Amino acid sequence: MKLLNRIMERAKANPRRIALPEGTEIRTLKAADIILKDKAAKLILIGNESEIKTLAAENNLSHIEEAVIIDPETHSGMEHYANLLFEIRKSKGMTIEQARALAKDPLYLGCLLIKNGDADGELAGARNFTGDVLRPAFQIVKTLPGIKVVSGAMLMFTPAKQYGEDGLLVFADCAVNPNPSAEELAQIAVCTAQTAKALAGFEPRVAMLSFSTKGSAKHELVDKVTEAVRIAKEMAPGLLIDGELQADAALVPSVGQSKAPGSKIAGHANVLIFPDLQAGNIGYKLVQRFSGSEAVGPVLQGMAAPVNDLSRGCSVEEIVSMIAITANQVTL
Ligand code: ACO
Repeated sequence: MKLLNRIMERAKANPRRIALPEGTEIRTLKAADIILKDKAAKLILIGNESEIKTLAAENNLSHIEEAVIIDPETHSGMEHYANLLFEIRKSKGMTIEQARALAKDPLYLGCLLIKNGDADGELAGARNFTGDVLRPAFQIVKTLPGIKVVSGAMLMFTPAKQYGEDGLLVFADCAVNPNPSAEELAQIAVCTAQTAKALAGFEPRVAMLSFSTKGSAKHELVDKVTEAVRIAKEMAPGLLIDGELQADAALVPSVGQSKAPGSKIAGHANVLIFPDLQAGNIGYKLVQRFSGSEAVGPVLQGMAAPVNDLSRGCSVEEIVSMIAITANQVTL
């Protein structure tokens, strides 16, 4: 996991302001204490101030006092954040009263801090469902120019050193879009290539996966993947991308050569784009469990500022890594 060490060092070199809306969640607090001790980020804990301080004292988390604490019930800026939310969402029918109530929701407040320039990124999800973390981010932080869909990439540290970059591959979309269109799939591929380059530090070779390789099967689901390859090439002309490819053709040089002769990607892919969320989510979990791989993420990509979602089963160490990754994404 040398890459995670490098990500941590990069975070320390340029500490970013990361909001943690689950400020009273104990694993989050323990992770925050480690990050603050290492000076890897400037943290904003959202939640009941006395509860945060009591939990910190009970668990000997002495560095928590270095965090900024924002208590939505008492913070002096709440009316400003409510107005900001109202302005963003009034065209969707939100009233100022609804905005005042919603701005107190830590998951909304974290995104409002980002929108207002008071935080650089956000990490939540140790306690909340994925959809509840993502919705305010979609509504308030929104997507990068030219990108309509946010997606979730997994950094897969596998023991199979013959694949990817010494066993490291990036998989997507494993977290967000249940059934992407060809255009959305193309955007997911382009964003994942950027994530691989900026975060994992390697030159991406993107395989667009299917149950077919180069026309071996005819189906509208295969057509969607080939159309996505065409659009992705238009979006990013220099990108090394190919498809549709079966997983073995994407990864194994001899299979790639026989099923997709002449392809620069087949047999050498280090970025795998799954055709939909069922395949992506099931795929990464199977690799993780059967091979003992470390799966880090989902790293959300395509958002105008980094907002990341944790698994509710996450460990303190995973939260520490995801804070560092979120901080790294600020410079993406
Ligand atoms: N990217 C950007 N914006 C989006 C996206 C997206 N992928 N999806 C929805 N939005 C926007 C919509 O445009 C809409 O914006 P608007 O209100 O300004 O018009 C807003 O978000 C809400 O859209 P809805 O369609 O109402 O979204 P909904 O709330 O129904 O669902 C969600 C969005 C929650 C992300 C849904 O797609 C979802 O549940 N995905 C699966 C998440 C999941 O459970 N993943 C598996 C677990 S994660 C893991 O195992 C690693």
